[in-house]
Amino acid sequence: MNAVLPGQTARVLSGMRPTGRLHLGHYHGVLKNWLKLQNEYECFFFVADWHALTTHYDESQVLQEHVWDMVTDWLAAGVDPNNATLFLQSRVPAHAELHVLLSMITPLSWLERVPSYKDQQAQMKERDLSTYGFLGYPLLQGADILIYRAGLVPVGEDQVAHVELTREVARRFNHLYGREPGYEALAEEAIGKLGKKNSKLYRELREAHLERGDKEALARAQALLERQKNMTLGDRERLFGYLEGGGRIILPQPEALLTPSPKMPGLDGRKMSKSYNNTISLREDPLEIEKKLKTMPTDPARVRRSDPGNPEKCPVWEFHKVYTDDKTRQWVDQGCRSAGIGCLECKRPVIEAVLAELKPIQERAAELGRDPLTVRNIIEDGCKRARDVAEETLAEVRTAMGLGYSS
Ligand code: TRP
Ligand code: SF4
Repeated sequence: MNAVLPGQTARVLSGMRPTGRLHLGHYHGVLKNWLKLQNEYECFFFVADWHALTTHYDESQVLQEHVWDMVTDWLAAGVDPNNATLFLQSRVPAHAELHVLLSMITPLSWLERVPSYKDQQAQMKERDLSTYGFLGYPLLQGADILIYRAGLVPVGEDQVAHVELTREVARRFNHLYGREPGYEALAEEAIGKLGKKNSKLYRELREAHLERGDKEALARAQALLERQKNMTLGDRERLFGYLEGGGRIILPQPEALLTPSPKMPGLDGRKMSKSYNNTISLREDPLEIEKKLKTMPTDPARVRRSDPGNPEKCPVWEFHKVYTDDKTRQWVDQGCRSAGIGCLECKRPVIEAVLAELKPIQERAAELGRDPLTVRNIIEDGCKRARDVAEETLAEVRTAMGLGYSS
């Protein structure tokens, strides 16, 4: 677990493109991580429906179904609307306004050199990815993050470069617009408001950092600011920025929180993915699940029941690693190598475990399916909450950029 860097809020933000019903790969990769995070941080999770359009603008008719299916699966898996704010990107227009404002200060070359830009164009030859929207994909993602001033962004490996771009854009923004007239005097005034003891401590720690590069002093000073409850946002930004010798920090730099790469492979041993047709979806019919697991390939060396095998060469073994205990795995390892057990026998505990895991999820999904209004209301509430937070940041951004002349 990454520590929250001082000066950042312990706010987590993550988005998922609406791909429809989720499968075990999503569950073990992303969702279980969200379930943990929602108990530890203030979390914002959203459906990145605009991002879906950057690559699939010609298939927008399926969006609606994909969005509600995905949100239903989040909820069924245990994402808790009382613990996390769940919303739709396209219902929080502030993301778009921030995107357009950030686009003014983002050099084209920064976007062109994001690895996913050229990689995806090379990999998805059948798609038109030569649009303005697709080039801007990572910057839109940056706006998603910065509009909530999120400190932590759980993402997979492939998205780390996008968080890195977001950090660069935030730095550039703060550098350009955090320099207000009379900044030093305002910062000094803000120090005065900390109270006698804290003012003195702040000054000492700032000096230790600026003059002697004392990182620990910086962290302590940031922690001191975190503890101040009665500071205005403007003063807060000034004092965080003043510690580092610069201007105000209006958009704090987020950290990527790398989601451990999923241990959950597909039925054929490759990554579980819809495009490989090797998935078990969370709402898959139990009989179908059983059939899929029973027919999934095993170590090709085991042609006959009497042929010994090697679990390391078998995708079923990967399922055992996720689903069964040490004792069962010993039984598998021994039984496979000695041809003591058959493959169907070996699969039995996996089948039982997958079905047991999905049972409560499927029950909740069925309940939500009978009551679509509940899902809509949860999202509507989440959108409202998200809009409030986003509007606050946007008002600051507008003012900082010289657009504060009218509400
Ligand atoms: N691009 C992300 C993905 O494909 C989805 C996403 C959009 C996102 N905006 C985000 C993730 C902001 C984290 C933060 O998975
Ligand atoms: Fe795979 Fe189990 Fe068959 Fe061995 S016994 S090949 S681990 S399914």
